[in-house]
Amino acid sequence: MSGHNVWTHKGTFLLAAVGSAVGLGNLWRFPYLSGENGGGAFILVYALTIFAVGIPILIAEIMLGRTSRQSPIMGMRHLTKTHGTSRAWETIGWLGAASAFLILSFYSVIAGWAIHYTWLMLTGSLVGADAQTISTGFDALLAAPGLMTLYHTLFIAASALIVGMGIHKGIESGLRIMMPALFVILLVVLAYGVVNGDIGAAASFLFTFNIADLSLEGWLQAMGQSFFTLSLGMGAIMAYGAYMPSEISLTRTAFAVAIVDTAVAMVAGLAIFALVFGAGLETGQGPGLMFVTLPLAFAEMPFGALVGGVFFILVLGAAISSSISLIEPVAAFLVERFDMTRPQAVTIMVIAAWAMGLLTVVSFNMWAEGTIFHSLFGRSAFEFIELLTNIFMPVGGLLIALFAGWALTQSEVMKELGSSVTWFKFWRFLVRFVAPAAVAFVFLRTIPQVDGYLIPTLGALLIIGAFAASQRWLKKPRQTT
Ligand code: PHE
Repeated sequence: MSGHNVWTHKGTFLLAAVGSAVGLGNLWRFPYLSGENGGGAFILVYALTIFAVGIPILIAEIMLGRTSRQSPIMGMRHLTKTHGTSRAWETIGWLGAASAFLILSFYSVIAGWAIHYTWLMLTGSLVGADAQTISTGFDALLAAPGLMTLYHTLFIAASALIVGMGIHKGIESGLRIMMPALFVILLVVLAYGVVNGDIGAAASFLFTFNIADLSLEGWLQAMGQSFFTLSLGMGAIMAYGAYMPSEISLTRTAFAVAIVDTAVAMVAGLAIFALVFGAGLETGQGPGLMFVTLPLAFAEMPFGALVGGVFFILVLGAAISSSISLIEPVAAFLVERFDMTRPQAVTIMVIAAWAMGLLTVVSFNMWAEGTIFHSLFGRSAFEFIELLTNIFMPVGGLLIALFAGWALTQSEVMKELGSSVTWFKFWRFLVRFVAPAAVAFVFLRTIPQVDGYLIPTLGALLIIGAFAASQRWLKKPRQTT
């Protein structure tokens, strides 16, 4: 347990997990991806994966952290030893570190945009501005790689300082105020949208669906988003779980995190789309969506500069409490494995992620087209990194589900879950079969050539394959019940 910083109080885990989960994923990514994917159908897949796959895996991930009480990579190493399973399961830790690194690289760049808007709000630069002015302003930001790099550097350095100095505890009390404040201010924006926007159009866009509208990659994005928003499948939650006191209910905590997280995303989505439809803006405008619509509302509403300034500060708070959870697992691993000091570990991780982030910076300007990423993958570097995380996180989650479902013994799990046998059986059914099958299904669904009956057939084969592989990897199958 050396090198880890500790979330001290009871209930702190919940706060930390909510801090990790609620962030740009809810405010920026969820609305922009829903908008690009036509709304309802995307949200349906997203919501189904949150509840049928996300929550059971959330429980599994906290459980692995709490039973091993180490950083994800070392924790998995420990668990494979004590359970006599193949070391291949350490992939969970490695894959998680890779995802964390990739996510941090672009997360910090986007959070940098929020720094820019905090500044614009507080200086009153946008008061009374119209949609045209605001969107031109956003394009100007995108066209300025130097400025974006400056913001990116500021954000990642601030996150690094917090993790490097181990001042989580200071953040704790901040979060207790900032999270509710963020929610309240979102409700204010929503109320503004109800009065001045078109909430009816927003609701029908978000909640009526025709599943055929969802593109093949839309399926992957919806599933990826449900992992992303819950901070799942990459070790963040496992790392925090390592500090969760044993007596706290896993199940209740997991549900609370998922519900709060979903509520924030829904309110943000409704507010943003009410404004989008009210002002006749485009739903599918991509990553700029939040940064163009919300400032427009703040430009018009009374005391908008102040409300908007506070709003973007809270967005930054939510983003920082997420980014520290991206740094934590990798840093903790470097400390445990290579005997580094905490500041050294954080510095290495953050410098690497910072450099990688430059790829995202240039994806919006110098490298917006015609790069090797476009010729190989038909998309910018930023979009390619997002695609990778949309794949890595569900794969990580799948492995977590299989390990928790098949390798842990009933008595271990019962001790962790601390609840009825019925719930245990239901949960185990979800992580053993439902979550793996759902993840496999979505992956197959995205392969364009695969359609019709091929999907269920291949899906079944893949599940059997995963099952066989996990039995092999488990070496000594520990069948209980
Ligand atoms: N869940 C965070 C968000 O929604 C992002 C994140 C992903 C944080 C993975 C940690 C790990 O903004």
